[in-house]
Amino acid sequence: MGPVTISRRFDFSASHRYYRDDWSEEENRRVFGLCALPNGHGHNYTLEVAVSGEPDPATGMVINLVDLKSAVEGVLVDFDHKHLNLDTPWFTDRQPTTENLAAVLWDRIADTLAGATLSRLRLYEADDLYVDYFGATA
Ligand code: NI
Repeated sequence: MGPVTISRRFDFSASHRYYRDDWSEEENRRVFGLCALPNGHGHNYTLEVAVSGEPDPATGMVINLVDLKSAVEGVLVDFDHKHLNLDTPWFTDRQPTTENLAAVLWDRIADTLAGATLSRLRLYEADDLYVDYFGATA
């Protein structure tokens, strides 16, 4: 049997603001638009976590879904109902865009999945907007 990819969805909510202190107010508004407004805004995110591997012959599972659920929820608790700029330490040197958030989540989640291979994160910021991230390439 070849490798199989299994995915599970998780929901969380967070707020953010796109803004660079080294740019003028006008430049921030030109590049980031409404996302640069002073008090930020929120999103209901959906995260799809995909894990790949050969199913264990004894269990038929690529990963025990109970373990996957607890690992990912243990990471998301640090993001859920937080202001990403103000309440988390990961966006002091980068914008809390969906792209950067996916990369941060990848590093956190990959660290918690002992023995399983994280193969893709798909992070929805809205129903019609999502990013795919497959980890660092080099
Ligand atoms: Ni936004």
